[in-house]
Amino acid sequence: MTNKYCRGDIDILLSAEDIHKRVAEIGSQISKDYQGRDVLLVTVLNGSFIFCADLVRNIDLDCKVDFMSVSSYLGTQTQGKVKVVSGIKEDIIGKDVIIIEDIVDKGFTLDFLIREISLKKPKSIKTCVFLDKKCAREKEVIVNYSCFEIGNDFVVGYGLDCDGFFRTLPYVGKIKESV
Ligand code: IMP
Ligand code: MG
Repeated sequence: MTNKYCRGDIDILLSAEDIHKRVAEIGSQISKDYQGRDVLLVTVLNGSFIFCADLVRNIDLDCKVDFMSVSSYLGTQTQGKVKVVSGIKEDIIGKDVIIIEDIVDKGFTLDFLIREISLKKPKSIKTCVFLDKKCAREKEVIVNYSCFEIGNDFVVGYGLDCDGFFRTLPYVGKIKESV
């Protein structure tokens, strides 16, 4: 399938420069908060792969990184149901877990992830999201670290996709209403 949109259809909301500055700030905050602790970063694929890659290079800790994959969305429409597609391989018991997520929208995915990971008895769980669509929340969920709060627009880039496309953009944008 080819992309029905082109790069010219996107209005930039966050530049690559803004993103790198903010991700570095969040990385150093996490480094300070978690000094001397046994940290496991749980990255949620696919959307968080770029955020994770940039964030970990700004975290000055000897921590491990693992990945899990969940599915909840089809294109721009929610399916309303979250399921694990592939789980964590690292041992979680006694670890200080930080969930790395691309975006929290209605909140169902992050809520599901927190409940799912809690079952594996970590010492603590916190959440770190690249984008927070606070105004779209339907399920209350605690966001401990957030890079940017955005409005209720469907956004792409920096890992976030529309039908699998646009993940590779170095910036975040929304598809123009005129297209
Ligand atoms: P929630 O369960 O409604 O909070 O949805 C969170 C998930 O939906 C995220 O992990 C994304 O994969 C996807 N999602 C929500 N909003 C957007 C968006 O604006 N662009 C791309 N993906 C999105
Ligand atoms: Mg996601």
